[in-house]
Amino acid sequence: MAYQHIEVTPLSGACGAVVSGIDLSEDLDEQRLGEVRRAFHENLVIFFRDQDLTEDEHKAFGRRFGSLNVHPRYIPIEGHPEIIPIRKDPEHTDNIGGVWHQDLTHLEEPPLGSILYALKVPSSGGDTMFANQYLAYEALSGGMKDLLNGMIAVHDNVIQSPKISADKNTTRASKLREDIEEEDEPEMEHPVVVTHPDTGRKALYVNSIRTRRFKEMTAEESKPLLNYLVEHSYKPEFTCRFRWEKGSVAFWDNRCLMHYALNDYPGQRRYMNRVTVNGARPVA
Ligand code: SIN
Repeated sequence: MAYQHIEVTPLSGACGAVVSGIDLSEDLDEQRLGEVRRAFHENLVIFFRDQDLTEDEHKAFGRRFGSLNVHPRYIPIEGHPEIIPIRKDPEHTDNIGGVWHQDLTHLEEPPLGSILYALKVPSSGGDTMFANQYLAYEALSGGMKDLLNGMIAVHDNVIQSPKISADKNTTRASKLREDIEEEDEPEMEHPVVVTHPDTGRKALYVNSIRTRRFKEMTAEESKPLLNYLVEHSYKPEFTCRFRWEKGSVAFWDNRCLMHYALNDYPGQRRYMNRVTVNGARPVA
């Protein structure tokens, strides 16, 4: 069905589309919002160019899709607990999100998605890649799908434990809280294959940074299959790649998409603000 209010231009055959004809700083009417929602569900990540958003407008757009997450670890920007800075300065070597992942899958209710707004971008580099996890699931053999459909994975947030956070804080511009104990964020079980609550499609739901093992198996026993699934999940044919400009916005669906921020702009500055929308408990 054609769109009436927006234009939607796909970025690759797998996922991602640039949406034009919309100003995200406005209070969108239900027709426009409905079309944005449809573009989001059809493309999994949507991009907007040349936006000019205050922090409040950024949050207001996020709230049209649900309540906003306060990140358990990242220190937010001043006065806006729901906005985390995704920043890299010339002197920093490490970036945020430089590994294929979904956000916060150790939570009981992991995010619906995130809205990233570009404030400063490098002259080249700093793109973000996305990988479609419906396609990752659908590309598996029938036998593998049968096996995975009965399985549960255990997720944790050891990647942001106090010791690791302290180390990361020395090499990164965006800072993690160091006052949270590992016990404050317990392990969480989620199905290995989830059914998207809005589209009804099945998606692979494991990642290398927070999926520790399969339920009733040790980490060592889980490793071969987990490694296979993680590497399978970002095959090039499942991906798209977005080149940022100042004022670009990306809104991705964390329930069916992985993302990866490229760290290929040494000595340059890249500043983004991220708002994350809360989601529901994943179901098989
Ligand atoms: C992230 O949220 O993982 C960072 C993505 C990016 O900076 O492109």
